[in-house]
Amino acid sequence: MSVAALIPAAGSGVRLGQGPKAWVTLAGESLLSRAVAAFEGCVDEVWVGVAPALSARAEEELSGRARVVCGGATRQESVYNLLRAAQAEVVLVHDAARPFLEAAVIERVVAAVRAHGAASVVTAVADSLIEAASGRVVDRAPLRAVQTPQGFRRELLLAAHERARERALEATDDAALVRALGHPVALVEGSSWLFKVTTPADLELARALAPLWDA
Ligand code: C5P
Repeated sequence: MSVAALIPAAGSGVRLGQGPKAWVTLAGESLLSRAVAAFEGCVDEVWVGVAPALSARAEEELSGRARVVCGGATRQESVYNLLRAAQAEVVLVHDAARPFLEAAVIERVVAAVRAHGAASVVTAVADSLIEAASGRVVDRAPLRAVQTPQGFRRELLLAAHERARERALEATDDAALVRALGHPVALVEGSSWLFKVTTPADLELARALAPLWDA
């Protein structure tokens, strides 16, 4: 089965406050370039979705490494645009904002998609959890934080997105849309390295880790 990586990278990076997040650099390499590099040699094709104003820049910087499509106003729309462009049988959706992706994680997700049709990387929750309004303690043991990559048979994810569009459903990840279609999603062990660069503190951490990762 052919496999494509789909990388939504059209976020504006408001919480980070450093301009379009995909172009923020760690040890001289952008988050976008790092996300693309993680899939090289692991998949048949790589697609990125970027803000329309940055598509020429992305084409130039990623020439020969990834194909570029215009992202949308939300992550969900960006993934939908990527899905319609790619034609591989299996798609792996991965946030550009998660720069430290190991090949072993990609392999786990692809194997689970081949077996089950849909798979998401998750990780156990380390912190105690409460409901902010009531202070009620939430048992963290059965909970998992959802990371990316998430992998699907392309036709399944496309059907999930089409249905979400018809019903105006919104979700912050793709596995949720597939579950809403009634299809189960296999869970695959993620990694602490897969944290998402969202805040300035995350960026500081990522910049400190990049030389270690690159070594
Ligand atoms: O905003 P958040 O950090 O949850 O975004 C996750 C990923 O989705 C990022 O890689 C971001 O670039 C991407 N995104 C997108 N299009 C949007 C908003 C976010 O591709 N409109």
